[in-house]
Amino acid sequence: MNIYFCAFGKYMKVLVTGGTGFIGSHTVVQLHKAGYEPIIIDNLSNSDESVLKGLKKITGVDFPFYAADCNDRESMRQVFIEHHIHGVIHFAAFKAVGESVEKPTDYYQNNLGSLITLLKVMAEFNTQLLIFSSSCTVYGQPDVLPVDETAPKKKAESPYGKTKQVCEEILEDETLTKNFLRAITLRYFNPIGAHPSAEIGELPIGKPNNLVPFITQSAAGIIGPITVFGSDYDTIDGSCIRDYIHVVDLAEAHVASLKYLENNAEIYFNTFNIGTGRGNSVLEVIQTFEEVNNLKLNYNLGPRRAGDVEKVYADANKSSQVLGWKTALSLQDSLRDAWRWQQRLAMADSSRLKN
Ligand code: WQD
Repeated sequence: MNIYFCAFGKYMKVLVTGGTGFIGSHTVVQLHKAGYEPIIIDNLSNSDESVLKGLKKITGVDFPFYAADCNDRESMRQVFIEHHIHGVIHFAAFKAVGESVEKPTDYYQNNLGSLITLLKVMAEFNTQLLIFSSSCTVYGQPDVLPVDETAPKKKAESPYGKTKQVCEEILEDETLTKNFLRAITLRYFNPIGAHPSAEIGELPIGKPNNLVPFITQSAAGIIGPITVFGSDYDTIDGSCIRDYIHVVDLAEAHVASLKYLENNAEIYFNTFNIGTGRGNSVLEVIQTFEEVNNLKLNYNLGPRRAGDVEKVYADANKSSQVLGWKTALSLQDSLRDAWRWQQRLAMADSSRLKN
């Protein structure tokens, strides 16, 4: 029986892999707020070291940062040699659905390899607690909505989705013997928005894949009109339905999951949906963005995008009942914060151009 003496997480070091990424960076802030000491490892393949400055502006802390690849076992070991790691939150992975179709072996190598490397190093250094970043893509198109954690995992629509399904199975197998590793997988729905300080947010490298950065870049005039991928679905207005969750609410769910593991030593594996429980269509998101930010967007109705499911949104009851977590921020909050962040980026770019 492992007893954890955690004085409210005071000085408990938590390794955040992919910690300069969109969700990772917001989780670093919430971990710090909860009294933990985040350590960041990130290979900066899909993020930027400037995020560390944003984190310092919000928290006043220079978080220990390792620019390294989670597939590199020696680099990973070095972190565990230099720090006593209480738990790990594993975000580091490739996550572009479309790209995964073009480069499946890169996705399997990176997403599966980094998890397996991490697990081996955790075992070597006796770090038992892991929170894993999974995705609602494991459900495919659910038969029943809202979708709960007992829903069957359907054939993934992409190699990306498959890597999330396989990683979940690796963790389930690793924890079955109940002799060491204790893991939680969190199935995110659609993370959007940015920290209300506008010091950190979504930093898509190159052309964005996801809807909200597409909207904010279109609104900022960086890219042209938005194309709504499909207007003939069986939904309220013909466009796809998703569960859009504020990234700060999502980050909070990771703190709640860590505390859940700390306070329930008998738990070796569990899975939770992390969504709002509400579905919104693409057109509703566009209209809401216009309303809260008092601006007009240019958009066209275009053909469906291959691989899209028609509608998916969470049954989040298990997360609220077991983790004691629920969302506090609305779609309006998310879209207001996303726009504020995009405007901050534009100011930063213009000041860079001036110098
Ligand atoms: C949302 C909706 C598009 C862009 C994402 C991540 C995936 C997983 C789940 C974390 C869809 C439509 C988009 C545009 C549009 N997250 N759209 N025009 O596909 O639900 O999946 O969240 O693991 O990794 O990819 O998100 O933002 O790409 O699309 O009409 O220009 O917006 O068709 O219906 P998606 P998305």
